[in-house]
Amino acid sequence: MEVQVVAGGIQSVEDELIVVNLFEGVEKPAGATGAVDQALSGAIGELVTSGDFRGKRGEIAVLYPRGAMPASRVAIVGLGPQDQFTLNVVREAAAVAALKARDLGVRSYSSIVHGGGAGGFELEAAAQAVVEGSLLGLYRFQELKNKPPDRPDPERLSLVQFDEAKVPAVEAGAEVGQIVAEAVCLARDLVNRPANYATPSDLADLALEIAGEFDTMRCQILDEEDALELEMGSFLGVAQGSDEPAAFIVMEHNPGHPDLDSLVLVGKGITFDSGGISLKPVEKMDRMRGDMGGAAAVLATMLVVGQLNLPLHVVGLVPATENLPSGSAYKPGDVLHAMNGKTIEIISTDAEGRLILADALAYANRFEPKAVVDLATLTGACVVALGQGVAAGLFCEDEGLRGSLQTASQTSGERVWHMPLFDDYLDSIESLTADLANSGGRTGGVGTSAMFLKQFAEGYPWAHLDIAGMTFEERPGTPKRPAYLQKGGTGFGVRLMVQFLRDWVAAGK
Ligand code: BES
Ligand code: MN
Ligand code: ZN
Repeated sequence: MEVQVVAGGIQSVEDELIVVNLFEGVEKPAGATGAVDQALSGAIGELVTSGDFRGKRGEIAVLYPRGAMPASRVAIVGLGPQDQFTLNVVREAAAVAALKARDLGVRSYSSIVHGGGAGGFELEAAAQAVVEGSLLGLYRFQELKNKPPDRPDPERLSLVQFDEAKVPAVEAGAEVGQIVAEAVCLARDLVNRPANYATPSDLADLALEIAGEFDTMRCQILDEEDALELEMGSFLGVAQGSDEPAAFIVMEHNPGHPDLDSLVLVGKGITFDSGGISLKPVEKMDRMRGDMGGAAAVLATMLVVGQLNLPLHVVGLVPATENLPSGSAYKPGDVLHAMNGKTIEIISTDAEGRLILADALAYANRFEPKAVVDLATLTGACVVALGQGVAAGLFCEDEGLRGSLQTASQTSGERVWHMPLFDDYLDSIESLTADLANSGGRTGGVGTSAMFLKQFAEGYPWAHLDIAGMTFEERPGTPKRPAYLQKGGTGFGVRLMVQFLRDWVAAGK
């Protein structure tokens, strides 16, 4: 869907549908909604006083002006209570409107910038959220279906800004919103794509393609031979059970600029996690095609970094491989040698994510980074602790870095929750035969996984995001989810990482 910005009052816009909004409990609409209400001789006010529309989050009503205005339809979206208003409510309202436009068979519609007026947000941020919500709400994964969907997407969204002087701010926000939303959709595609369509080589090809779009970006694909030379025994141990060649992807935006801060993003890229010899149960094993949700977020973030041409040296690292059982697979009891020299006893071949991350985190050190953030669908225990689709676990002992991620989380609406890295967890991953064991048994599974990673994240400020509950949207049986999240891949982490990087740039100025 194309997005444009126009100046004027929305009540005078001629379009197939115009979208305005209302907070819960408001009986006398003001601002743009008030102007439309007036043109409709109080029809919106009547919707509310009659009790037919309450302005709740996710609510939407459609009115037909029948000549009272140039538009053929008016939609009013609910914003919920004013004291609970956030940019995520804006995204949600925009998604609800976009889905309604599609349902109505509308090809072109116009909307005010929710939150830009009475909402109290910066107009630019509000416009970004409206565009994100609209495009993310319309997302669907169609690649492998022969039949086109019943209803095509609307072709155009016009954001209508009353004050002409504020149009540039809306345009700036809309542009960022479009770039971010398209990247989130790419990450969703990667998660939704079956493992036979998203192999490690496919991820590597995509990384090369992304880097090829920008003069500022370089991409190097390390194959298994290169990894052997680098002594990435931990990564290769996981890869040895699969016939698909593994790939260690290294993307760099602005390499060779010592004046710029270096930030490294690491994404777990297990394109299919069967558990290996410690095979997983059959139920829902297909979901493990999404075990590269971290990798998807990193690749998509690099795309945004290139498009926004951020003045940072950003490195994206993706160790990519399948985790399969076979005659050549690594086994429980085996000992692997990681790149930093540490030896690891394999307790479970299903604790493979931390093994490939171990070498990636050790590799990250060569960039002398100001910060390293890894994103990984690492543990089911994290989903048990925080809930499905509720928050990513954030492990970070550096207060500054942690604060930055928490701030970016609030702005982007991608929730994180601070989790502990108690030294006690190290006791659980002691090994008889090696320096470390790769699993610590039944209890404390979130903490032990993060503590394991910490043994390899040496020499720089580091944060680990366990996104196991966040990359794949399941329903029903999970908490109520906003309209901008569709079933399947969520693209979690892209908005968070982009915000984190943009904030880093802004802080340096
Ligand atoms: N990829 C899984 C974690 C996961 C679970 C992601 C559910 C998404 C949804 C990971 O590789 C794994 O298998 N973890 C094990 C660790 C255990 C063997 C120590 C787990 O969580 O059970
Ligand atoms: Mn596993
Ligand atoms: Zn896994």
